[in-house]
Amino acid sequence: MTITPGRAVLAVVARHDTDSVRAEALGRQLGLPLIPGNDLPLQGAGAYAAVLLVDGDRLSLQALSPPAETGRRGGRAVLPGPVSADFGSAAMRHRRRGGQNELLGRAVGASASRQPAILDATAGLGRDGFVLADMGCSVTLCEREPVIAALLQWGLTAAAASEDAWLARVARRMALRTGDARDVFADRAVPAEVIYLDPMFPPRDKSAAVKKEMALLQLLLDSDTAPHEAADLLAWALGQDVARVVVKRPTRAAPVAGAAPSHHIAGKAVRFDVYVRRALA
Ligand SMILES: C[S@@+](CC[C@H](N)C(=O)[O-])C[C@H]1O[C@@H](n2cnc3c(N)ncnc32)[C@H](O)[C@@H]1O
Repeated sequence: MTITPGRAVLAVVARHDTDSVRAEALGRQLGLPLIPGNDLPLQGAGAYAAVLLVDGDRLSLQALSPPAETGRRGGRAVLPGPVSADFGSAAMRHRRRGGQNELLGRAVGASASRQPAILDATAGLGRDGFVLADMGCSVTLCEREPVIAALLQWGLTAAAASEDAWLARVARRMALRTGDARDVFADRAVPAEVIYLDPMFPPRDKSAAVKKEMALLQLLLDSDTAPHEAADLLAWALGQDVARVVVKRPTRAAPVAGAAPSHHIAGKAVRFDVYVRRALA
């Protein structure tokens, strides 16, 4: 079976018997079936392209069949995953020291003396949001794809309950709202001086790990709609009462919808286009 991007066939699996209550609740929340998972690799899971695996306080997404674009290694299909929002992972800790963070901080106007409230309107797995919260910003994360939102919520809950005081403190600066950012911002009193946008396409990182993760997430996301959606989202953001809008782009990509930013901050792989509306408080 080949995974067709944008048309997922998903199920929830409890890793251990003790996980079954939470797995059932998650299945009900997302409208997904629960299948037995005592015997991984999964027996009887052939109908599913991927599973959401509940394992203690961890939730991860694991492909069961290879997406067309990941190819094969040594004749064996490479299955993408598991993908999770693990803010305490070595990769996230390493990312803390990455040069890109400094660029992101400058783009949103964060400094030692100023930490603007951010609406991360395209939260995904929350990595950029976490970097901003690590700088001291309070971050409202919006994610409209329910499975990605669930991965993110589990990651945030685990991080907030962590015995690592730094991790718990950063996670508590983050709040997730599941839904379209435009509806969330209109409906609720969301404090935000800066709207941050990271539209998915085109992909900006060619590493094997990121390619695999992208392939898996594309199970859930319909890439065909992304370019015009990014333009709609930017037009919406520029109409809001915020001090600035920041858009993450691949370094050499054109600005979204050709809309020239006030200025940009460019690194090797990514660029942040900054649309200044007024001074930050
Ligand atoms: C490229 S990913 C963001 C990655 C994220 N910056 C990170 O660091 O993990 C884009 C995400 O935005 C979400 N998205 C796109 N448009 C949205 C909208 N209008 N409201 C809420 N979420 C949206 C997609 O479902 C996708 O998960």
